[in-house]
Amino acid sequence: MLRRTATALLALALAWPAVAQEAADAVTPEGAADVGAEFGPLSEAARTALAAKQAGEPTEAQGWMVAAANPLAVEAGARVLREGGTAADAMVAVQAVLGLVEPQSSGLGGGAFLVWYDAGSGEVTTLDGRETAPLEATPTLFQNENGEPLGFFDAVVGGRSVGTPGTPALMQAAHEKWGRADWASLFSEAIALAEGGFTVSPRLADLVAGDADRLQRFPATARYFFPGGQPIAAGDTLTNPAYADTVRRIAAEGAEAFYTGDIASDIVATVRTAAGNPGVLSRTDLALYEAVERPAVCAEYRERDVCGMGPPSSGALTMGQILGMLDSYDLAALGPDSPEAWRLIGDASRLAFADRGLYMADSDFVPMPTQGLVAPDYLAERARLLQGDDALPEVAPGSPEWDHAQLWAPDESIEFPSTSHISIVDADGNALSMTTTIENGFGSRLFVRGFLLNNELTDFSFRSHADGRPIANRVEPGKRPRSSMSPTIVLHEGKPTLVIGSPGGSRIIGYVAQAVIAHTDWGMDVQQALAMPHAVNRFGTYDLEAGTDAEALAEPLTAMGYEVNLRDLTSGLHAIEVGETLRGGADPRREGIALGE
Ligand code: DON
Repeated sequence: MLRRTATALLALALAWPAVAQEAADAVTPEGAADVGAEFGPLSEAARTALAAKQAGEPTEAQGWMVAAANPLAVEAGARVLREGGTAADAMVAVQAVLGLVEPQSSGLGGGAFLVWYDAGSGEVTTLDGRETAPLEATPTLFQNENGEPLGFFDAVVGGRSVGTPGTPALMQAAHEKWGRADWASLFSEAIALAEGGFTVSPRLADLVAGDADRLQRFPATARYFFPGGQPIAAGDTLTNPAYADTVRRIAAEGAEAFYTGDIASDIVATVRTAAGNPGVLSRTDLALYEAVERPAVCAEYRERDVCGMGPPSSGALTMGQILGMLDSYDLAALGPDSPEAWRLIGDASRLAFADRGLYMADSDFVPMPTQGLVAPDYLAERARLLQGDDALPEVAPGSPEWDHAQLWAPDESIEFPSTSHISIVDADGNALSMTTTIENGFGSRLFVRGFLLNNELTDFSFRSHADGRPIANRVEPGKRPRSSMSPTIVLHEGKPTLVIGSPGGSRIIGYVAQAVIAHTDWGMDVQQALAMPHAVNRFGTYDLEAGTDAEALAEPLTAMGYEVNLRDLTSGLHAIEVGETLRGGADPRREGIALGE
């Protein structure tokens, strides 16, 4: 009954904003009483936040706010913020619980990018906790004996795709730089839920059932997700004593407990002995791993600074290019129903993706025109290409100020429902935007010490060369695979106005750019901007969110020359609008909430 109600509201909230108001009107007091039952016992505040999301409304707060993909994780972060912790402290608590209750998406075995606005200094900086390729990896890691690329899942499932996890190091680095709370105290919810049991959410249960063959290839993974041979079901209480033990060790000894000693040995053994597809991760890779602080990449849009994660992510550069090109077009006047607005957004995106394919990779390994790609003059020149009436017949990379062009590698990475985004604003006014992932849903499917290992290395190009020239995003030892993750903080006159990000593979860039446009140009509140139906164009095909009003764009966009594709577009946007008050939004396509006080 509840699920049916929730599904109906979700369908409504996915339609254009006017329809979200109908959803708001449709919430009955009886319905609200049931809200959140699928997550086990939730606080009144969390249930109210969930009801607001289902009604298509933002949550409001004066002091602090946290938005993430699962109510139990949000509650852990809220406790830390309520007790005076910073956004960095709260992130540690949120991530520790997400790794337990949403294991398919992110966790200790994965990687993350974090953008930080420091209220004290007014500075924006980033932390790179991206996985690294093992030192024994070579550019042919994902090729067969003939030099041909492996099939995607032949590469993903097993040890071959596992990069050195970065999330534990990033959690610790963020806490050391910006935390205030006692480190060990940040893991209490994760430990209690892992030992006492948590309620399996509908989404986790559905995804386990849908991935049964792959998950059951490895005995440890099968034992956890298929106890007694049956898939865990929504509403089951699941314990994870191994996770409690790992987290307790990290709480007591720091991230070193993960990167050295017996936990590290178990990770390495799991990767190197994975049946049928072993990998080359070593104890040295783990011992050497470091999260790296890097300057934020910012682009100007409507007199705002849109700041995010530079290389090895392509997120902020590609989004910055899209928004920078659109800055000279009046999207506000066109409005969200205008096919012309979507032509401009779609072709700006295609132009940006052409540059992404040619230039963007880990800049520690590959020279990159990072500043040139978002230079206003260059973007103005690219924006002039958008002046026609129809879809651009052809799109090619441009020539930003720089002269090292590498060969373009087409990158239509396959998208599966994983990855998670966390947005937090604390009572001091610090803002944190972090996208966290194990890449594919359930990552490599290898389960060790209570968590899943990532398959992030499949974000590298499987081909190492084309026409005799190297591909920028090829595998190299120690290198970080190119990402699309786009944790973002939008600032106006130096102060944050929007903290946002999403999962979605390379569609992340389109999801976040669209929400920024909806909020900035179309005046939508944060919840409306997240719930709005998606239209995403990366490489030419226009993806429109099936079953929503976005389908109305199919005819006019086809007439303009686009190939249109109706499909699910499962983002997981979580955002906080910072103004007189804090207003939080959570993607109606996922299970999360925004909670504040
Ligand atoms: O770093 C990246 O861009 C990807 N590994 C993120 C994966 C993802 O978002 C999967 N999505 N739904």
